[in-house]
Amino acid sequence: MNSNPKHIAMIMDGNGRWAKKRLLPRAVGHVKGAANVRSIVQGCTEHGVEFLTLFAFSTENWRRPEDEVSTLMDLFIQYLDKELVEMKEAGIRFRLIGERSAFMPSLQMRIEKAERETSQNTKLHLTVAANYGGQWDILRAMQLWLDANPNTPLPLMEPQALKNYLSTSDLPDPDLLIRTGGESRMSNFLLWQMAYTELYFTDTYWPEFDKVELERALEWFGKRVRRFGQTDEQVLAGN
Ligand code: IPE
Ligand code: IPE
Ligand code: MG
Repeated sequence: MNSNPKHIAMIMDGNGRWAKKRLLPRAVGHVKGAANVRSIVQGCTEHGVEFLTLFAFSTENWRRPEDEVSTLMDLFIQYLDKELVEMKEAGIRFRLIGERSAFMPSLQMRIEKAERETSQNTKLHLTVAANYGGQWDILRAMQLWLDANPNTPLPLMEPQALKNYLSTSDLPDPDLLIRTGGESRMSNFLLWQMAYTELYFTDTYWPEFDKVELERALEWFGKRVRRFGQTDEQVLAGN
């Protein structure tokens, strides 16, 4: 039986379909989805999770209709305005991964403020992935590595060396991925970092994914045998 995961990554999917099922505009689904983040963050702290990484906006999500993109950006601003005090009180450290220069200045400013004002917190490391893509992260890390090691041939690079240049360099790799909304794909999330992550997919749409659903996922995780390439016998012997 595994203990609770140290690092959970989540693909918060299904806001649009949640709204459609109720004959509501997609934007209402996003509002409900944003409101759900708080209780899941709380649920994670209650279960001793130390790192939570949430996929909020992918590099491909810019392809959505302009008004939906701007709804999502506005909601992100509102979230930071509403939650910063709460995060400070709860000891949550906020960070953003992704290419932030594409965001409007008012959003960039709030992101930096939240990062700065929570930088000393240690209870839960909350990382939001926005304008993030796993492929972007790997290519960027490669470039940074090449800049730092101009005379070393690429084949001599160890996987561990690349890890140090990824945007998640100071986070452990996720133990558990939860994807809501019924799809069983990665959609360009933490591709490198999830080499050995346990993958949990649920049909529940993100706005309805509550603490009980979180517990269900944790229970499922508890039953996984993590072999990391070894045999059951080796794992049992604790090698
Ligand atoms: C997740 O919900 C939110 C984002 C991707 C920003 P969706 O908006 O993808 O909802 P569905 O998948 O269309 O139901
Ligand atoms: C993944 O959801 C991205 C986020 C949840 C932010 P999408 O809804 O964009 O994924 P696809 O397009 O169905 O793969
Ligand atoms: Mg979706």
